[in-house]
Formats: sequence, structure tokens, C-alpha cells
Amino acid sequence: MNENIEFLQAFLKNPAKVGSITPSSPELAKRMIAGIEPGPDNVVLELGVGTGAITKHLQAKVPDDKSYLGIELDGRLVRSLRKNFPDMRIERGNATEAVAIHAGSGLGKVGNIICCLPFVSLPNEVGEQILLEVDKFMQRGCTFRTFQYAHGYYFPSAIKLREFMRDRYGKSKRSSLIVKNVPPAYTLTWSTL
Ligand SMILES: C[S@@+](CC[C@H](N)C(=O)[O-])C[C@H]1O[C@@H](n2cnc3c(N)ncnc32)[C@H](O)[C@@H]1O
Repeated sequence: MNENIEFLQAFLKNPAKVGSITPSSPELAKRMIAGIEPGPDNVVLELGVGTGAITKHLQAKVPDDKSYLGIELDGRLVRSLRKNFPDMRIERGNATEAVAIHAGSGLGKVGNIICCLPFVSLPNEVGEQILLEVDKFMQRGCTFRTFQYAHGYYFPSAIKLREFMRDRYGKSKRSSLIVKNVPPAYTLTWSTL
């Protein structure tokens, strides 16, 4: 199935959890994975894989099946992802349980988190639980990257995420505005490595 149609279907089924009507553009995907060198001791954890718009760019950088773990909530998307990315480890699950899912995978240390979750439309308590999970990885030394849409940059939940991260890991590295994405977005990166 065409990726855009599949994504739109997922959005129509659950708009708050998907949070966007189109997958990330190649320009945003490339910025999300810039500088990341996955390996068995530097596992990339992708939260909210969707249709794999970022995963397909990351794939070329992933050396083996021990260097990447994707977590996606929507079972239909997971089935399709497993078909499209047979060499990538993708678990159906909730990012609120990311630490347990990673521990159950038997994979090595997570060195990079690529977070594509729509914090702006997720319930507050879900967003908070996910950030606490992220914090556990960050305490072991990790880089966290997410994107925020320009139009939602000053929404309370977007500000809350930035404050949570800034209070613990300092000021983010923010990209220039990526205009070739619908809607335009910034990437934000924090690191404890
Ligand atoms: C904005 S889409 C991003 C998809 C893709 N990574 C991209 O950039 O195009 C967000 C994805 O996060 C998933 N998602 C939402 N809440 C989640 C949760 N708590 N745990 C795991 N995945 C979740 C949705 O099902 C959706 O596929």
C-alpha cells in the first residue's frame, strides 16, 4: 500500500496518537538521523515508527539486527513495517514501557533515541510517563532527538517537553526550520554522552 495512504488511514483511526496527516519528509528524516552511527553497543531506539518514513533512511546506516529497535503502538502499522523492513527489529508496544521492551529484546546499550511521538496530542500523563522512560536511558548516557512542528512550538505540551529536558540535560541543539516538511518542523537534540 502507498505509504501516504497507509499513514492517513492510521491518522483517521486515531488522530491524537498519530498526530500528523503525513509521514515525515525525506528532509526531516535525514536531519533526524544526522550524525547517528548505530552499532550493537550504540543501539538506535525509534519511538513511534509509523510507516517507517525515518526508518527507511536509517536502514542504510544500521549494520545488523542488533543495532536498532523500533517501538510502535499501532498493530496494523507494525505488521506492515515488519514486511517492509524484515531486517529491522520492530516491537509492537507502548513507549511508556520502552525500558522493559528494550530489556526484553536482549539488545545492547541504547545510545540514541529518535522520538517521533506526537506529545502535543497525547494525554499529559502519557507524555510524562514517556519522558520518565527517556530519562532512564539518558542517565546511562544517550542522545535524544525529537522534532516539533513550528505551529505547535509554543503549545503547553511542547514547552513542557523542552523544560523537562532542559532542566536535566541543559539547552537543546535546535536545527534551523525544516521547511520541506508538512508542517515545517525543528529537530531538538539533547545528549548525556
Ligand atoms: C507523527 S507519527 C510519526 C511516524 C514516523 N516516525 C514519521 O516520522 O513519519 C507518530 C507515531 O507514533 C505512534 N505512537 C503514538 N503513541 C505511541 C506510544 N505511546 N508508543 C508507541 N508509539 C506511539 C503512532 O501510532 C504513530 O505511528
